[in-house]
Amino acid sequence: MDEPIPPNALPPEMAEMLLRMAREARGHAYAPYSRFPVGAALLTQAGEIYTGCNIENASFGLTICAERTAVAKAVSEGARSFRAIAVVGPQDELPCSPCGSCRQVLYEFGPELQVITPSGEGGEPQVEPIATLLPRAFGPARLQPTGMRE
Ligand code: THU
Repeated sequence: MDEPIPPNALPPEMAEMLLRMAREARGHAYAPYSRFPVGAALLTQAGEIYTGCNIENASFGLTICAERTAVAKAVSEGARSFRAIAVVGPQDELPCSPCGSCRQVLYEFGPELQVITPSGEGGEPQVEPIATLLPRAFGPARLQPTGMRE
C-alpha cells in the first residue's frame, strides 16, 4: 500500500522551482575570495519566495552566507513562517549543505523547515527537515522555563 502523503509535504515540482530560483540568485553572489558562489531560495508558508546569495568581505569573517541573506530579507519584510529552503553551490548538481551557522539560524524559525539540495547524482533532490540536519538543536524552546527540563 502507498504511504500516506503528509499534508505539508513539498511537491517535487516546488522543490525543482526553488532550486531553479536558488541557481538564479547564485548569479548575484559576491564571492571574489572563495570563488564559491552560493544561492538560496526560501519559501514561506504563505507562498512567497525570498532569494539570497553569499556576500563576502575583505574582512573574511564578515561574510554572509546565501541562506542567511535570504532569511534576513524575509524577516525584515515581515515573513517568519517558512516551509522550505533550496540551496545550491557553484555546481548545479553537487549537494551544498548549509553550514553550521546557517543551520542554527534556519532552526530558529521552526524544526520542520524542509532543506532542499541537489542530490549529486542527477536524481531527485534531497529534501530533509532542518531538525535532522541539526540534531538536539538549541532553539527558542530552550529559553522557556520548561525547555530547560527537556
Ligand atoms: N557559504 C554559503 O553561502 N552557505 C553555506 O551554507 C556554506 C558556505 C559561502 C560562504 C563563503 O562565501 C563561501 O560559501 C565559501 O565558504
